[in-house]
Amino acid sequence: MRKKIVAGNWKMNKTLDEAVSLVSEVTNMIKDEVTSDVQVVLCPPALYLTTLKPYLEGQTRIALGAQNCHEKASGAYTGEISAPMLKSIGISYVILGHSERRQYFGETNEQLAEKVNSALANGLTPIFCCGESLEQRQGEIHLDFVRTQLTESLFHLSPEEFANIVIAYEPIWAIGTGLTATSEQAQEMHEILRQHIAEKYGPEVADNTSILYGGSANEKNAAELFAQPDVDGGLIGGASLKSREFTIVVKANK
Ligand code: PGA
Repeated sequence: MRKKIVAGNWKMNKTLDEAVSLVSEVTNMIKDEVTSDVQVVLCPPALYLTTLKPYLEGQTRIALGAQNCHEKASGAYTGEISAPMLKSIGISYVILGHSERRQYFGETNEQLAEKVNSALANGLTPIFCCGESLEQRQGEIHLDFVRTQLTESLFHLSPEEFANIVIAYEPIWAIGTGLTATSEQAQEMHEILRQHIAEKYGPEVADNTSILYGGSANEKNAAELFAQPDVDGGLIGGASLKSREFTIVVKANK
């Protein structure tokens, strides 16, 4: 059985005090209100991970994740953080290949394959992001484009390694725009990605892979998106910055 997951991608938001408040609020609300076994992953700016960790003590349903890591273990890469560093502070998840990283920091499928390797070698679960632009969707090349993102960054992995991957489908045109993919559009892509995984790794691995949807998912549309058979949860940006909204999204993943 694949895991139901709701991850919050805070991006470059919140001061330390605000981050502490948000984690405390979310933790309390989830403890009091969420009865399902959904896994929650909070991905604040990496700077705050160590401070926030004690706030999640004993909360098995809530984990911390980073928003990125470098492909090398250490070295002269000013400003970067590595997978061994994340491991050393007890972090379990890392978002890799977010479209903002691809767009603003030039991350390529090949480089992401190396980041995935480094994350896995350090016991981190990658939340691997993929997704097409509006032009690609309008040009009807979106299905091939997203399949290729998986092939080039993930399909060198063994089935055992691939079992540790979480996929997040995030159409670029839906991120931060208020334009959510319809539940049909999300389901279509998720089903195609699961088939693609099944062709490479077999139906059992594909069935066990959690595929999250991201892109303007919020407290209003989450229940419908999560009700789709191949949508196993969400990667939530804007709506993860407010405790009440985020908790409603988490509760919608039953
Ligand atoms: P959004 O961002 O929910 O604000 O659209 C999602 C993401 O970028 O992960």
